[in-house]
Amino acid sequence: MKKDENRYPFLKACRREPTDYTPIWLMRQAGRYLKEYRALRKKYSFLEMCKNPELAAKVTLQPIEKFKLDAAIIFSDILIPLEPMGVEFEFAKGEGPVFHHPLRQMKEVEKLRVIEPEEEIPFLMKAIRIVRKELEGKVPLIGFCGAPFTLASYIIEGGHSKNYVLTKSLMYQDRPAWDALMEKLSEVLIRYLNAQIRSGVQTIQIFDSWVGCLSPHDYGEYVLPYSKKVIEGVGRGVPLIHFATSNSGLLELMKRAGGDVIGVDWRVDIGEAWGRIGHDVAIQGNLDPVVLLAPIELIEKEVKRILGGVEGRPGHIFNLGHGILPNTPPQNVAALVDMVHEYSSK
Ligand code: CP3
Repeated sequence: MKKDENRYPFLKACRREPTDYTPIWLMRQAGRYLKEYRALRKKYSFLEMCKNPELAAKVTLQPIEKFKLDAAIIFSDILIPLEPMGVEFEFAKGEGPVFHHPLRQMKEVEKLRVIEPEEEIPFLMKAIRIVRKELEGKVPLIGFCGAPFTLASYIIEGGHSKNYVLTKSLMYQDRPAWDALMEKLSEVLIRYLNAQIRSGVQTIQIFDSWVGCLSPHDYGEYVLPYSKKVIEGVGRGVPLIHFATSNSGLLELMKRAGGDVIGVDWRVDIGEAWGRIGHDVAIQGNLDPVVLLAPIELIEKEVKRILGGVEGRPGHIFNLGHGILPNTPPQNVAALVDMVHEYSSK
C-alpha cells in the first residue's frame, strides 16, 4: 500500500487503526435522491451511464462534491458482469432488473462464459482510473461486486424475488447445476475484483444483498464455500468489506467466509453484532435508511445510539444498513455526515 493512503480515516478504520473521528460513506450515495443525478438521468438510461466512463466518473463524484463523505464508491451495478457472461437483462421502468431467460438447468449454466473483465468491461476500468485521478489526496475509492448467491438469485429468479423459491429449488433439487453456477460466478468475480484493484480501487465491498433468506445451515452448505473462495481470490493489498442484509443469523458464518470488515443492517444491534463476530474484524453500519426521512432530532438520536453501541472502539465505519432511498432529503445526508464526524471526534 502506498504511504499516502495510510492517512485516510476510512482505510485506517478498515484496518482497525484509531482515527480522529468515525468515517462515513453511504451505500447508493450516488443516485436518484440527488438532483444532479436526476438531471443526467433525463438524458441517459441507467445502463448508458454505467457504460460511459466519463459519465460514471462524474456521477461517482457528485456526492463527494456535495457532502464530506470519507469514501467514494464507483458508480456501476452488481449486474454489470452478467451481460458479457451471456445473461441478458434490462432495467424496466419502475421495476428494477428483468431477465428475459432465467436460468433453470445445467445446460444453461454450461453456456455461461467466464469473462476477461479488462477486455469485456473496459468502461468500468476506465471510470475507475478517471475517478482515482480526480480523488487523489481527497478520499479513497471503493470497488464492488455482488456475491455469488445474490447474483445467482437474479439469474435464476429473473429479477427481484420475495421468497427465492426458484433459487432455493435449484439449490435443493439440482446440486450439480447449483455448484456449477456458483463455481462459474466465483471465478468471474475473482477476475472482476482483481481487475478493479489493478485499475485503482483501494477497497472492495461484496454485496450479498439477498442471502438473508437462507438458514445458517444452508448458508454454510451452499454459499459459504463460494463467498470464501471469492474473498480468498482477491489480492490481499486492499481491505475487503463483506456486506449482507438480514444477516443477523449469519454473522459468525460470514466472518468465517472472510472480510476485513463485516457490513450489517439495522435489524441487529451493532454492539451486539460486533461482539458476536469478534473485535478482530472491523464493522460497518447500521442506520436504517428510513431514519433519514425523519426530523433531524431523530437522526441525531440514532447517530448517538449507534456511536454509543460501538463504544469508541477503532474499526467502525458508519453507514446505512442498506442503500439510501430515492426520497431522502439531501440536507439530511449533509446533517448526518456532520453529526457522525462531530459526535465521534476524539
Ligand atoms: O452505492 C453506489 O452509489 C454505487 C452504485 C451502485 C448501484 N447499485 C447503482 C444503482 C451499487 C453499489 C449498486 C449495487 C446493487 N445493485 C445492489 C446491491 C446493493 C443493494 O441495494 O442491495 C443490487 C441488489 C443491485 C441491483 C439493482 N440495481 C436493482 C435491484 C436496481 C433497481 C432498484 C432501484 O433501486 O432502482 C438497480 C438500479 C440502480 N443501481 C440504480 C442505481 C443508482 C437506480 C437506477 C436509476 O437511476 O433508475
